Amino acid sequence: MTVRFDILRREKAESMPYRQVIEYTTDDPNATVATALTALNETVGLTDVEGRPVERIMWECSCLQKKCGACAMRINGLPRLACDTKLKDCGPTIQLEPLKKFPPVADLIVNRDVLHDNLKALKVWLEDEAEPDERATDIAYEASRCLQCGCCLEVCPNFLPDFLGGKGQFAGTAAMPPLARLIAELPREKKRELEKTYRKRFYEGCGKSLACRNICPAGIDIERLLVNSNAMAVWKRLLKK
Ligand code: SF4
Ligand code: SF4
Ligand code: FES
Repeated sequence: MTVRFDILRREKAESMPYRQVIEYTTDDPNATVATALTALNETVGLTDVEGRPVERIMWECSCLQKKCGACAMRINGLPRLACDTKLKDCGPTIQLEPLKKFPPVADLIVNRDVLHDNLKALKVWLEDEAEPDERATDIAYEASRCLQCGCCLEVCPNFLPDFLGGKGQFAGTAAMPPLARLIAELPREKKRELEKTYRKRFYEGCGKSLACRNICPAGIDIERLLVNSNAMAVWKRLLKK
């Protein structure tokens, strides 16, 4: 199988981006975008389709098993994991671009600090010991599978990061699974602040469009977490008034 990668490249954050088309041939029917990028970077004297030398393609990976989220990028226009995207499912020309909701660093690498910063700002942790509610085990398991890859932020119409002029409080879907987990598991007296944070930093900014529903590479049931957290942190509280 031979495919053409059409890659949006930039040397560093402030460089002018440009496109480069590179051909790749493999006999492996299960080859992924990650396999191909690794092989291209190992090819000595690699040239593009116009015969120009190809500099090392900058991209991130760690586990290569769909477990870490590092290799998230736009593949044919959609945010996906390079290690979980097979070439045979992509067509003859495969467009690779960095995620657009995060500041560019180089080629396919972006700065995703905002994901971690948001979790810190939301204080998604326990101050002291708490007995988790066993009825919430499956919600907790579902939420714990989040890779913090950022694919859901990429498709969310309401998430606008600072570097693109966003000034809102909305933390986006990536912050929701960790919040949803604690809201489901903790006893009432331990989660008042978290519920407040959920309402302010997630519920009030979310347009409920569910554009993020089917994009998660971990297959998390976003709608279920959303419905459960809304019920516990918003509606239950209002109905009690
Ligand atoms: S439901 Fe829509 S607005 Fe809410 S987080 Fe998902 S994509 Fe964003
Ligand atoms: S919810 Fe899914 S898409 Fe969003 S950050 Fe977590 S793993 Fe990635
Ligand atoms: S390299 Fe870890 S998810 Fe792709």
